[in-house]
Amino acid sequence: MAINFIDLQAQYRAYKEEIDREILEVCESAQFIGGPKIAQLEKSLAEYTDAAHAIACSSGTDALLLALMALEIKPGDEVITTPFTFIATAEVIAFLGAKSVFVDIEEKSYNIDSHKIEAAITERTKAIIPVSLYGQCADMDAINAIAAKHGLSVIEDACQSFGASYKGKKSCNLSTIGCTSFFPSKPLGCYGDGGAIFTNDDALAQKMRMLLNHGQNARYKHRYIGINGRLDAIQAAVLNVKLKHFDDELALRQKIAARYDDGLFTCNNVTTPYVKADRDSVYAQYSIRVQDRDNVAAALSARGIPTAVHYPMALHLQEAFAPLGYKAGDFPISEKISEEIMSLPMSPFLSHEDQEQIIAALKALHA
Ligand SMILES: Cc1ncc(COP(=O)(O)O)c(C=O)c1O
Repeated sequence: MAINFIDLQAQYRAYKEEIDREILEVCESAQFIGGPKIAQLEKSLAEYTDAAHAIACSSGTDALLLALMALEIKPGDEVITTPFTFIATAEVIAFLGAKSVFVDIEEKSYNIDSHKIEAAITERTKAIIPVSLYGQCADMDAINAIAAKHGLSVIEDACQSFGASYKGKKSCNLSTIGCTSFFPSKPLGCYGDGGAIFTNDDALAQKMRMLLNHGQNARYKHRYIGINGRLDAIQAAVLNVKLKHFDDELALRQKIAARYDDGLFTCNNVTTPYVKADRDSVYAQYSIRVQDRDNVAAALSARGIPTAVHYPMALHLQEAFAPLGYKAGDFPISEKISEEIMSLPMSPFLSHEDQEQIIAALKALHA
């Protein structure tokens, strides 16, 4: 039988009774928007991250958009971010008419290189969006220090890192605003689209709550131009169940990652993930680097082992960002990693046997 890249069906089977009951409760109450499931989720998320405010919203993309809207990012403003990320990170900057200023990544962690940020700051810079890629936080202390020095806001794109720890604190609660995604395949995923925004700033929290509900400050009173960025109650119901099991799942993810690390350590042509000593990773992806990626992927696929590429093209080379005027060679590390990176099957429900099969297949290819 083919191996699943992420086994969401096994996860559903494991919590089926609880999830079905919670979803039925929403249906029976008919409180599909807002209500107690959302309130419970926001309380649990705030407790989990120790953030003063956790605000459920419609997706990770909308979380990032709402954060930028709350910070009043507008045309002419510049926002510094990494070109080695999912498009949503920079898409929301462009959506508001602002300009993404890319800064290359570190070769080992694949996160933005904090040493290169200051050189990219201009008088138009308003914010920095570090991405905690694959589930490992960027160098948030260094980034926050640069931001404080220049009067900038920091939005952590924590869409892949909910649950990760950084120097004893939780991802999502490491900067001005943290944004996460509950897309089904994320470490904490719902059954559709979903996301959340985190902050310790009361005024920003209040503003983001209004912005995600059409800028309303009272029923049919609109203080801002906002969006419909609400999470629905069925998604909250699913997340409330999954959050209870989340730490157990994280422990399994980390155990599986350690097993990959051990198994692939001696494998020629494979570079395993590098996680810095003062933080951990939730392994939203377990991504290795290989030289001849297409052949490796094809050989694994022939053995029933799926792989994926996160991400095959750095953002500065995407057609949609042509107006930014970047060219090949501008961010050499991002370009190099995007040619070599490959994600292996990863989920808390990946069986020991399946994982052994994956490791053996890679070893056979690169003995
Ligand atoms: C780094 C990053 N940013 C933003 C997003 C957007 O999240 P969503 O798909 O929930 O809109 C994702 C998820 O795909 C992501 O991985």
